[in-house]
Amino acid sequence: MSDPTGPGQIVDRLAGVALPRHIAIVMDGNGRWAQQRGQPRYAGHRAGVASVRSVVEACGHLGVEALTLFAFSSENWRRPPGEIRVLMELFRSTLDQEVSRLYEQGVRLRFIGDRTSLDTALQRRLDDAEALTAGNVSLDLIIATNYGGRWEMAAAARQLAAAAARGEIDPEAIDERALQGALCLPDACDPDLFIRTGGEQRLSNFLLWQLAYAELYFTDTLWPAFGTEALARAIEAFSGRNRRFGGVQPSVQKSPGDA
Ligand code: IPE
Ligand code: IPE
Ligand code: MG
Repeated sequence: MSDPTGPGQIVDRLAGVALPRHIAIVMDGNGRWAQQRGQPRYAGHRAGVASVRSVVEACGHLGVEALTLFAFSSENWRRPPGEIRVLMELFRSTLDQEVSRLYEQGVRLRFIGDRTSLDTALQRRLDDAEALTAGNVSLDLIIATNYGGRWEMAAAARQLAAAAARGEIDPEAIDERALQGALCLPDACDPDLFIRTGGEQRLSNFLLWQLAYAELYFTDTLWPAFGTEALARAIEAFSGRNRRFGGVQPSVQKSPGDA
């Protein structure tokens, strides 16, 4: 299928449009994409890698600061063992193929989620990719693997409770900032734009804390069919949203009773 807006053209296409600083994506619909073509589900996961590549490249061109992609949830262990094996193998081989190119592109890679239950060889690759790209500044690419928002918050609570038990922090001093500091990405700004492909309209335990004020964008497009054109449409929709963060619109006329 042709994509009228390639990664190189997206900058012109979105000229003058307000861009999100941080985009978070639930890449959903791989299995259905494959089934619609009479193929096994894993073929959809393989095809989805090309969408990852073009979205990462487009975000780099646009100057988006951070892109967080949901690759494997803490609930995805409920899938058949064969599918889990394919997903882990695909993750490993994609890292092997892409990390040096991402490094050249100035991408800083980070992984969030519980690594302890991943294969040790895969854990080593995640550590190596993070170490290699740690000094890069063009785009923060955050991959959520064996990640769940509830897992993240429970881990943060455990960490703060342990520090309090050691007498290092006062429980009374635990505020939103302290909790944020114990989460996975203390230094990243919250996602401005949340995109979910594949037609479902739910968070599926993704970034529960960080998405508090994200603009939500759902599309029926299945992840392997999501490319730069679809990303441009999502960003255009985002730029038309009126973000108030609980306040009022600055341009709203004062009502007669206002001071
Ligand atoms: C998303 O596609 C990929 C992962 C969850 C790893 P799915 O595999 O969930 O595809 P559908 O939703 O079944 O079509
Ligand atoms: C969410 O998709 C997880 C990822 C995209 C990695 P799922 O397909 O697992 O979500 P549910 O099961 O439909 O909520
Ligand atoms: Mg799904």
